[in-house]
Amino acid sequence: MPAPLRSLNVAVDTWRDLAAVAELHLRYLSSRHPADRRTKALLTRYYEVCRDDRDTALITADHRGELVGYLCLISSLPDLYRQLLRKHWHEAIGFALRRLGHHPREMMQEFLQKIMPAIRENILPRHRGKNPLPAATPGTFELRPIVVVPRYQGTGAAPLLLKRGEDYLRSRNLTSYFLRVEAQNQRAFHFYVKSGFQVACRDGNVFLLTKSLP
Ligand SMILES: CC(C)(COP(=O)(O)OP(=O)(O)OC[C@H]1O[C@@H](n2cnc3c(N)ncnc32)[C@H](O)[C@@H]1OP(=O)(O)O)[C@@H](O)C(=O)NCCC(=O)NCCS
Repeated sequence: MPAPLRSLNVAVDTWRDLAAVAELHLRYLSSRHPADRRTKALLTRYYEVCRDDRDTALITADHRGELVGYLCLISSLPDLYRQLLRKHWHEAIGFALRRLGHHPREMMQEFLQKIMPAIRENILPRHRGKNPLPAATPGTFELRPIVVVPRYQGTGAAPLLLKRGEDYLRSRNLTSYFLRVEAQNQRAFHFYVKSGFQVACRDGNVFLLTKSLP
C-alpha cells in the first residue's frame, strides 16, 4: 500500500496544462481510443472547450510540480460535444472515423446516436432545432472523468480530488451528482462505492451511480 502523500496540491480550476490532462486521459482512461498524436490533440481541444464552459470545473492534483491526477465535473456532455463539433468539426470527424476503423460496431452506434445528430444540428442549418441531442437535466452534474496516475493510486489523491469536487458542487448549491462506470472497472467501482455512491441503474455494461451530498 503506497504511503499517503503529504505534499499533494489539489486545486480547483487551474486549467494550466491541458495537453498534460489529455495525456493522462489517453494513457489511463481511454484504452479504446487510438493512442496517437491526433487523438491527444483532439482530447486537448475537448478540455479547452471544457475550460471555456463556465459550468465545467477541472480539479487537478500536483505532486512536486507533476500532474498526478485530475477530476472533471461537467453539466452537459451534449453541449460540450456540440461546442467541440462547432469549433473543431474536421478533427472530431477524423477522430470518429479512425475509431470506427478500430471498433466498428461500438463506434457506429455512437456515431448514429450522438455524433450524426450533433452534426445535423450544428452544421446543417436546415436541421437546426429539429434533431437535438438529449437535453441535459438542468442542475445536475456528472463526474467525467477522474484519473489518478497508477503509482499514485491508493495514496489518498483520489479521495482528495473527490472531496474538492464535492466542495465545488456544494458551493453551487448542488445536492447530488452522478457518474458512469463500466462493470469491469472494479477498482473504480469499489472506489466510488466506498466514497458514498449508490447504483441507480445498469445499462448493459455500464453502471449509473449517484451520490447525495451531505
Ligand atoms: C478510479 C481511480 C481514480 C481511483 O483512485 P485510487 O487511488 O485507485 O482509489 P483508492 O485506492 O482510494 O480506492 C480503490 C479501492 O479499490 C480497491 N481495489 C483495488 N483493486 C481492486 C480490484 N481489482 N477489485 C476491487 N477493488 C479493488 C482498493 O483496495 C481500494 O479499496 P480500499 O480503500 O477499501 O482498500 C483510479 O483507480 C484511476 O485513476 N483509475 C484509472 C482511470 C479510471 O478508470 N477512472 C474511472 C473512470 S469511471
